[in-house]
Amino acid sequence: MKAFINAFFFAILMGLLGGCLYEKGGPLPSDTSSSTNGGTDTSGGGGSTAALDSLPCGSPTTTNAQNQVCFNTAILPLFLANCATSGCHDSKTAEDGYDLTSYEKIVRKGITAGNAKKSKLYQVIIDTSKERMPPPPSAPFSNDKVQLIANWINQGAKNITCETTGSTNSAQAASYSKHLVPILEYYCTGCHNNTSQSGNINLVGYTNVLPLAKNGKLYGSITHATGYQPMPSSSLKLSDCQISLVKKWIDSGMLNN
Ligand code: HEC
Repeated sequence: MKAFINAFFFAILMGLLGGCLYEKGGPLPSDTSSSTNGGTDTSGGGGSTAALDSLPCGSPTTTNAQNQVCFNTAILPLFLANCATSGCHDSKTAEDGYDLTSYEKIVRKGITAGNAKKSKLYQVIIDTSKERMPPPPSAPFSNDKVQLIANWINQGAKNITCETTGSTNSAQAASYSKHLVPILEYYCTGCHNNTSQSGNINLVGYTNVLPLAKNGKLYGSITHATGYQPMPSSSLKLSDCQISLVKKWIDSGMLNN
């Protein structure tokens, strides 16, 4: 019985930890070298720098033609996927008062516009002690992500919106492994994984994704349709190209291909 109780509390503890410290290790805004606008060279960092080449419809634009860091495509997904996870800095928990789910909320606290070094949010990212964010055992942000956030703050932490352009070969069949998985890993699984299932939704693994594709919730949420929770956030939508790939995959039978 004692062993059972111990195991029970251990499971709860791991669940709590897992919720906050989950490191998805999947593709994140990192490879900025293919930015179409020839922005600041922020590539070449270490850490969890899975290439973004695998993200369908092209890498997210990190800077606009004026070399300003794009908030919607480069910064917000970073905060959503690594910080705004359930039990950490989502709207419900807002650990330490930080709700990192939208532009207004992110700049409200911990950012000194124009000065990254004075910004608490930047300090915790580069911290080398156990105070670092995201906390160990999650990997620290790679150098290129750190640089991107520094540039964004130093440029005034502005809400610069960039088009999420990109296209795929329209004749190409939509594939679960080639298209759905990279999109879900980039935008969604920070909050919807085996240990942290926001809204009881797990988007890791075909068997978990399939029922949500079938019942319309996947498509409803990413198109921000009425009656569904807008995903990945009310202030961030996938690009039209990415949405059409998801639709194509659904329309062609939701295969595990
Ligand atoms: C920052 C965390 C976060 C991210 C990132 C995120 N979600 Fe969610 N998601 C939630 C939360 C929290 C809920 C539960 C909302 C509620 O019930 O109020 C939810 C609910 C959902 C639902 C149920 C919607 C409904 O109306 O029943 C679906 C489907 C979903 N998410 C899919 C996605 C997809 C697909 C992505 C990526 C494109 C994504 N989520 C990204 C936090 C997130």
